[in-house]
Formats: sequence, structure tokens, C-alpha cells
Amino acid sequence: MQNVIEISNVSVYFENVCALSDISLQVKEKDFLGIIGPNGGGKSTLLKVILGLLNPSAGEVRILGLPPGKAGGKLAYVPQFSKFNRQFPINVRDVALMGCLPRKSGFFHHYSSEDVQVAREVMQQLDIYELRDRQIGQLSGGQMQRVLIARALALKPEIILLDEPTASLDSRSKSQIYAILKELNKAITIVMVSHDMGVISSHIKSLACLNTSLHYHGEPELSSEVLGQTYGCPVELIAHGIPHRVVGEHLED
Ligand SMILES: Nc1ncnc2c1ncn2[C@@H]1O[C@H](COP(=O)(O)OP(=O)(O)OP(=O)(O)O)[C@@H](O)[C@H]1O
Ligand SMILES: [Mg+2]
Repeated sequence: MQNVIEISNVSVYFENVCALSDISLQVKEKDFLGIIGPNGGGKSTLLKVILGLLNPSAGEVRILGLPPGKAGGKLAYVPQFSKFNRQFPINVRDVALMGCLPRKSGFFHHYSSEDVQVAREVMQQLDIYELRDRQIGQLSGGQMQRVLIARALALKPEIILLDEPTASLDSRSKSQIYAILKELNKAITIVMVSHDMGVISSHIKSLACLNTSLHYHGEPELSSEVLGQTYGCPVELIAHGIPHRVVGEHLED
């Protein structure tokens, strides 16, 4: 399998805050990479660098052999949910159709009958077709998350980046999202940020632990040492759905 994402010695500074320090990471075709790390650990920043929304202060990024931003329609992004403005007056179908936009050129966009067909297919795949005329402000969190994934899939991407797709969802909606991702992963590469360590370790194919530096990248087996290093304190782990205390008490408590 070839590398679809290659990140070499990337650093990102905001003024004098170092958000990412000398990150090197490769993602293979059809991988399902989970990225975990504490708040402010640089996870969203790393996704933005991959997307070409943010220029790294140092280092190099290649997406399917191209500079970020040039991979266009091959790379789709599901933003961190809490950052999406839900008051925006738009219905489900139009959000799904928006996913087709990056495939177009020019200033005036007309959706073709093919776009409408693609949007319908992804809405059906994500089980939101019945909701197509609803305003997004009226959706539940789990429904909205599926709308955002539908929008990303309407692009027909080869790689999809998701920033905490299961944050604030109940366990049934979480399972639903993971089942959808597992199915998608048969055809496309997935990179997913999550705080949901226990759950993700049973769904992903590889794991990266990020806290400004990359503390680990490899098999999705979590050791207490790596977690402690990443989070800077002992971390309690629910391994593969079985409540299982791996690490001891917080020393400060
Ligand atoms: N545009 C920006 N300007 C200045 N600082 C920023 C900017 N974006 C991010 N940062 C800082 O960079 C660091 C990494 O932020 P980032 O959003 O990547 O973290 P994260 O791992 O996604 O956190 P969370 O789990 O809370 O989503 C933080 O210290 C943050 O305050
Ligand atoms: Mg984030």
C-alpha cells in the first residue's frame, strides 16, 4: 500500500505558541488512523495543515503526492461539530449538495442532475434522506453529524478527515457513526480525531498520540506509558469496550 498522506518534520507556531513540533507521520492507503491527545494538543491544527488551510511554519506535506490544497476533490473534511454554525438557515439537502461544490469551477455554480443523484445517494447511505427538507437547526446532534459526513462524501473523496465525529453523541449514535465509517473504509482512507480512546481503539487500524509532539504512531494498542506521556498524567482506559482500569490513581488527587 502506498502512502496517501506524508507529513515530514512539520512545525506550526501561532505567534510564540508552538502548536505542532517536528511532526512526521505517514498514512497508508485504506488506513483508518485515529488521532488522540489532550485539548490544545494540536489535533485540529494537524488536520488543517493536511487540508492546506494552514501553512506550516516548517516541514513538508504531500497528499496523494501533491502539495496540500492541490489535492482538491480527493480530500474531504468533517469539521469539529461544535464549530459549525447551526443557526444558518439551510436544509439538509442543500448541505449535502454543498459537498459537490469543490468539484466545480467558475463563479456561478449549477448543480447537475448527477450532483442531485450523488447527494441523494449519500443521504440514503447515512439514513438522513427522510430529513432532507428539515432546517439543520432542528436536527439532533447525531443527525447533524451524519449531515456533515454526507456533505463530505458528496465530494466522492479518496481520503476523509473527521474532527471528533462522535463528540457529544450517545452510545447508539456513536456505534452508528462507527459502522458507517467502517463501511466507508473499505474504499477510502480515514483519519479521525477523537477523545473516545476506548471506543476508537477497537475500530481503527492505527493510532497516533499527539500533544504538540507525536508521542506514538503505530498499532492501536494503548500502553499506559504512551498515554501518560501524551496526556502528561495517568489516564484511565476502557480497553475494547470492557471497563478495565489500566493505570493507577491520579497522583495529585
Ligand atoms: N488560529 C489560532 N491562533 C492562535 N492559536 C491557535 C490557533 N489555532 C489553534 N491555536 C492554538 O494551538 C494549540 C492547538 O490547538 P488545536 O485546536 O489544534 O488543539 P486540539 O488538539 O484540536 O484541541 P481540542 O481537543 O480542544 O479540539 C492550542 O494551544 C490553541 O490555542
Ligand atoms: Mg480540535
